[in-house]
Amino acid sequence: MSPRTKKSSVVGAIKTIEDLRGKSAKTPEGTHIIAFSNFKGGVGKTTCAVNVAGCLAHNFRKKVLLVDLDVQASLGQWLLGPEQWHRWSKYRKKTSYQIFLDIIQGSHAWTVETATFSPDGCPRLQICPATFDMLDLDTQLHHSLDKPFHPKPFQCLDIQIKKICGQFDYVILDCPPNMYMTTKNALFCADYVLIPTLPDFLSTTGLKKLVGFLKDLRDQFLILDPETARIAGIIVNMYDARKSTSLPLIREIEAYVDETKHENDVFLPKARVFDQRIRNLSGIAKAQDAGLPVSLAFPTSHASQDFIQLTNQIMGVVENGRAEGSHQSV
Ligand SMILES: Nc1ncnc2c1ncn2[C@@H]1O[C@H](COP(=O)(O)OP(=O)(O)O)[C@@H](O)[C@H]1O
Ligand SMILES: [Mg+2]
Repeated sequence: MSPRTKKSSVVGAIKTIEDLRGKSAKTPEGTHIIAFSNFKGGVGKTTCAVNVAGCLAHNFRKKVLLVDLDVQASLGQWLLGPEQWHRWSKYRKKTSYQIFLDIIQGSHAWTVETATFSPDGCPRLQICPATFDMLDLDTQLHHSLDKPFHPKPFQCLDIQIKKICGQFDYVILDCPPNMYMTTKNALFCADYVLIPTLPDFLSTTGLKKLVGFLKDLRDQFLILDPETARIAGIIVNMYDARKSTSLPLIREIEAYVDETKHENDVFLPKARVFDQRIRNLSGIAKAQDAGLPVSLAFPTSHASQDFIQLTNQIMGVVENGRAEGSHQSV
């Protein structure tokens, strides 16, 4: 991690020259930072982030930090319950908003110890909820930081997460349904981008636009870090085998990924459309009612099985050279 030596009177978070030039630090060996992103809403970003994080922690015994970056704050409402989340989110210091405020204001208020909670029965999973206060965060980031000698507005999360991520095997970032500044922070911070999508016509068309957008974004990031914001995989969510249109669209996405991989480097060479699809299952809603990831709430359900298999495939891509299935879930 870079030593922090200088402070600014305007923005206390001015960093060393090293910070301003590039990523604040490399992700430590053994830690993997993954952003679940898609500019479409309702495709399962939060569902996949919560359940993959739950499987990593509960079934594969990894230490996981799950951070909600969406102002809708669904993740906290799911895992704390609406009332408890409401009480929690009144304290900005206990939410992901403070991660950004600490850079904007030069404070040191956000800590993993005070701003996260663990669901019952899963101490390895630590969750940092979002708050509705984040509504104008994008504007704040632009206004406060888009100046010479300040970190770039998209660098805040990276600087902050890199200070603490060595405590975890995985950091999972749940992105908002857009490509504005908060999402750019997540993409710049992440080593891997996973894109949940639905096997329908509009989502498939949108996916190609999204990949084009990510490619442009990587051009902006390139000077700071050529390895950032690369797609590791596409997750097919709400799959229904009875729909005759689903399979041809999935094949189209697979062909698109293979073709694009050869044209540019927005996809990692090992990127794939995961074979394990997440079916449209009632277990997901029931797990939300239970306030838990599905593999904790209903371990033997179809939804739990889908997510355990998907998580195993994600680990196969992310943990270089690890053969799938070599980690047995418990
Ligand atoms: N595989 C699935 N089966 C059933 N319902 C799902 C599934 N995936 C997502 N949902 C539901 O769809 C809605 C949108 O999912 P969500 O994860 O919030 O999407 P996003 O974060 O992309 O906006 C939620 O109500 C969620 O419970
Ligand atoms: Mg969401």
